[in-house]
Amino acid sequence: MHNAIIDCPIETLRLGFIGAGATGTALAVRLRERGYPVAAVASRTRSSADKLAVAVAGCRSYDSKQEVADSAELVFVTTPDDVIPQVITEVKWHPGQSVVHCSGADSLDVLGKAKSEGAQVGAFHPLQTFVGVTHAIENLPGSTFALEAEGPLLEILKGMADSLDGHWVVLKPGDKGLYHAAAVIACNYMVTLVKMAADLWESFGVPTSEAMQALLPLLRGTINNIENVGLPDCLTGPVARGDLGTISKHLDALEKRAPAIAATYRDLALQTIRISLAKGKIDGARAEELSQLLRNKPGGIAMRTMLKGKIHRARVTEANIDYEGSISIDPTLMEAADILPYEQVHVLDITNGARLETYAIEGGPGEICINGAAARLVYKGDTIIILAYHLVPEEEARYCHPKLVYVNSQNEIVSTGQGVAGSV
Ligand SMILES: NC(=O)c1ccc[n+]([C@@H]2O[C@H](COP(=O)([O-])OP(=O)(O)OC[C@H]3O[C@@H](n4cnc5c(N)ncnc54)[C@H](OP(=O)(O)O)[C@@H]3O)[C@@H](O)[C@H]2O)c1
Repeated sequence: MHNAIIDCPIETLRLGFIGAGATGTALAVRLRERGYPVAAVASRTRSSADKLAVAVAGCRSYDSKQEVADSAELVFVTTPDDVIPQVITEVKWHPGQSVVHCSGADSLDVLGKAKSEGAQVGAFHPLQTFVGVTHAIENLPGSTFALEAEGPLLEILKGMADSLDGHWVVLKPGDKGLYHAAAVIACNYMVTLVKMAADLWESFGVPTSEAMQALLPLLRGTINNIENVGLPDCLTGPVARGDLGTISKHLDALEKRAPAIAATYRDLALQTIRISLAKGKIDGARAEELSQLLRNKPGGIAMRTMLKGKIHRARVTEANIDYEGSISIDPTLMEAADILPYEQVHVLDITNGARLETYAIEGGPGEICINGAAARLVYKGDTIIILAYHLVPEEEARYCHPKLVYVNSQNEIVSTGQGVAGSV
């Protein structure tokens, strides 16, 4: 089938825009600068379309979206996400043209009607934040673009990202939700975190404008460390140091003076424990203490320590006294029993009655190796049970289902089950 796009050099690939807001205008202005002809624009209001047309040489504004679709080979639909399906339905598309949206959350299914009418469809999401037209034009170059498309259109979109001095990543349809959630966490929720910090300053009498003067150098320093030192080593602060006393003081102050923020503080601190462990500044035992402190809510919400996972009658394949204290476990068994690397585990030696606490690390296939001092209690060839517990609020404890993993003498899984509370 003849495809106009394939034969079309960039200088003759006429672009059209439906939606003349921040993203549409920034793309139109910057792509025109990079040699792509922008032929047509329409928007909800004629005044927005006119503004974009004035800013982009050679671009004509129209009242109707259909006129844009009829006069462009590649049409960007840069309306709000919720409006994209409506635009696609209202316009008649034709073979040989391409229709591309810029949504981070939607996949290509919203362009289904354009595809059924013969158009190629794609997504071109700038991983960037645009608060208005001027900032969008400024911020766009150098961004990463998340692409979805097939064949020649994908190559064209890659070329556009390159021409905007950007990077690109090609997403599979099922990845879009997680991809966009990540963008929202890194961008929008950073704003939320700064607002929470500024609100705390207000509560001890410093207005937000002054708080921002103090917080901005801290934010810049943090971004600088993320960029130059990288994860996980850029993490500092009390969770990174395992400083229980400091965190207790924070929790006391927040519960008394800013209870609405306390729950978020706890959740973020719990997520931060994983980074501290990866940085290697705290060990599994300190991580567990931090976790208990952060999960134990004030006002006496009762927590129960419940069995979370069990590997039953595994055989010890090695005992290595010279290695750092831990137990190396076949990752398949760890996953089946819901045990994470560096998670605290209890080891019960059926052969000699010894019991000990340590933390799990991933070993090779079939491996169960006792490392460090514990190798004086548990020996190669012993049969052991490995248990992992978690703290669960009282009201959830009755509905817990630990993951039970039964293995043979080769440490291969024979069966798995979900225990019912009271039966294990
Ligand atoms: N803002 C960001 O940070 C950002 C970042 C990456 C991707 N995006 C994506 O870019 C797309 C556009 O977002 P945006 O932030 O640029 O939005 P925006 O600034 O609000 O602009 C949206 C434009 O769409 C027009 N519009 C609304 N309903 C329409 C309709 N029925 N028919 C034709 N035009 C219509 C509006 O027209 P009028 O001006 O004429 O009223 C407006 O100019 C979205 O898919 C968004 O997810 C945004």
